[in-house]
Amino acid sequence: MNPHRTAFIQGLPKVELHLHIEGSLEPDLMFELARRNNIKIPFSSPEEVKAAYQFEGLQSFLDIYYQGANVLINEQDFFDLTWAYLLRCQKDNVIHTEIFFDPQTHTARGIAFETVINGIDRAMQKGREELGISSQIIMCFLRHLDQESAFNTLKQALPFKAKIIGVGLDSSEQGHPPEKFKEVFEAAIGHGFLTVAHAGEEGPAANIHNALTLLGVSRVDHGVRCVEDAELVKQLIEDRTPLTVCPLSNTKLKVFEQMSDHNIVDLLRQGLCVTINSDDPAYFGGYMTDNFMAVADALPVSLEELQAFTLNAIEASFIHEQEKQKLVDKVTHFSHEFFV
Ligand code: ADE
Ligand code: ZN
Repeated sequence: MNPHRTAFIQGLPKVELHLHIEGSLEPDLMFELARRNNIKIPFSSPEEVKAAYQFEGLQSFLDIYYQGANVLINEQDFFDLTWAYLLRCQKDNVIHTEIFFDPQTHTARGIAFETVINGIDRAMQKGREELGISSQIIMCFLRHLDQESAFNTLKQALPFKAKIIGVGLDSSEQGHPPEKFKEVFEAAIGHGFLTVAHAGEEGPAANIHNALTLLGVSRVDHGVRCVEDAELVKQLIEDRTPLTVCPLSNTKLKVFEQMSDHNIVDLLRQGLCVTINSDDPAYFGGYMTDNFMAVADALPVSLEELQAFTLNAIEASFIHEQEKQKLVDKVTHFSHEFFV
């Protein structure tokens, strides 16, 4: 790629809205935590772990991903995981991030909710103070489990409400549509949480429609299969409903065969509020800059359009208007010299 474009992508201030903290667990840290906590893992080296990351689709990834999370036991482990991610954010000029975590992945193993949230939150505070990176937490319900388990999780979260901006829905989309969680999302909204949901990743466009109408979501995670319903696309454009798209995830999980087939630039040009995110960067081969680079390498996209992904993410973020304006100023100030 030409050096001017590379420098622009590297330096561009970025905002991440779709990042599973468990998906930022790098093989090296997985090994360190396994040793520290005396947990057996079915790999003999970090290189062997990396070699195992070949996925046929979402489920084959999730099976390995939930197994990887078994090494996370103590509050310090969740701190170390989150801190490592924030240091990668600093390297990629990520100035704001909204982080997902999956409480049920941990509470099902006997880890207390507070152990998880306190470790993540402490790293986020340090990130604000020492790295100048602002952040929020979104807790996701696992959709392959039942709604009762989600209700339990919501209850466990209430004492920590001040630390959690919203609730989301992730895991296996096929066979577990949004309507399965209608009541628990209603309850979450009643408690003042914002809502988001993974929809239209492997599942049909109807899941996007139902996430919007039944779960009251402010953003749709992935959402790339919206193109199968022209009426829905029209509505998403009109409402400026944000889609948190994850390009490297989509190719790694075969939602698109290759990056040149990805619809992200088409969606942007149609006027959708699309954003670029990393999803599970330790598993999919890249953090924010890598995702921007992969899109810019494979698809015809201008610097102005690359900037638009960040401006869309600021618009879609769960921060106050005044804070949004500060981030917009940072982005436009950075881009200025590239555009003249
Ligand atoms: N959990 C972590 N990454 C996910 C993805 N891409 N889709 C659904 N659930 C997930
Ligand atoms: Zn995701």
